[in-house]
Amino acid sequence: MELDWGLGRYEPTGEVLLPISEVVVAMSEPLNGKRLVDLGCGTGNAALLAAERGAVVTGVDPAKRLVEVARERAAERGLQVEFLAGNAASIPVEDGTAELLLSIFAVIFAPDADAAIAEMTRVTAPDGLIRLTSWVPGGSMMAINTVAGKFMAEVFGGSGNGGSGNGESKPFAWHDEAALKEAFGRHGFTVDVERRSMHLTAGSPEEYLENSSEHPMAVSGAQALASRPDGDALAAELESRLLTAVREVNEDPAAFKVSNEYAIVTAKRS
Ligand SMILES: C[S@@+](CC[C@H](N)C(=O)[O-])C[C@H]1O[C@@H](n2cnc3c(N)ncnc32)[C@H](O)[C@@H]1O
Repeated sequence: MELDWGLGRYEPTGEVLLPISEVVVAMSEPLNGKRLVDLGCGTGNAALLAAERGAVVTGVDPAKRLVEVARERAAERGLQVEFLAGNAASIPVEDGTAELLLSIFAVIFAPDADAAIAEMTRVTAPDGLIRLTSWVPGGSMMAINTVAGKFMAEVFGGSGNGGSGNGESKPFAWHDEAALKEAFGRHGFTVDVERRSMHLTAGSPEEYLENSSEHPMAVSGAQALASRPDGDALAAELESRLLTAVREVNEDPAAFKVSNEYAIVTAKRS
């Protein structure tokens, strides 16, 4: 089953990821008057930044609560942004109308990457751009998530590879230039991949875990464990394994810091 990102509180993570939307929006200037779709807009980070720069923005997300939060944030800033419920397999936008389609750590969670790529290319204007971000495997954050994924797989069965976040079949490598070139190439698009790095910080490993405890994935996992008779013991074991993993990857002995590489993928018609 797909995760509802409206569970718990995505908002703190949205704040942590805001600098990446700032990077992507800045590199996509000029935006004035451009028709832009923010696919998987969450609380509206990229959508609002682009609207502030004059883009005509439609934000799309399957999580109804987050769409509401995004609407409220736009209203607070006096920005006109259309926010719609939808997902990567069914983008509620007409063919060939998006001059820029952004998807910041969002389409990577689509269960069917081929369907998502077909749909993104459908809505993109003839001279438009698709620009998405994806984590690069091997980073500290993924190492922590893998510990959680493996634990859930031990308890409930499954691959435990963490997938694209949905725990389903082997995920599409959204960071991988060859895989992207092949998948987008089928739709007549060329692809460019740029790697960047970002840091996550907290006062301590314990604080980082505490901050993450309301993340939709953590809440969904906690709900699943609570459905088991030994749920409390399982939750305690998961927390202990996560704390070990978080301490192992910590780069700052006086507090908490991890670095993560991510890919900025730009696709356009060849
Ligand atoms: C890590 S959050 C990123 C949100 C936002 N782009 C940001 O930068 O803060 C992932 C987002 O992807 C959305 N999402 C999950 N599955 C999706 C799908 N199949 N199609 C489009 N968006 C999806 C979630 O609802 C969530 O808002």
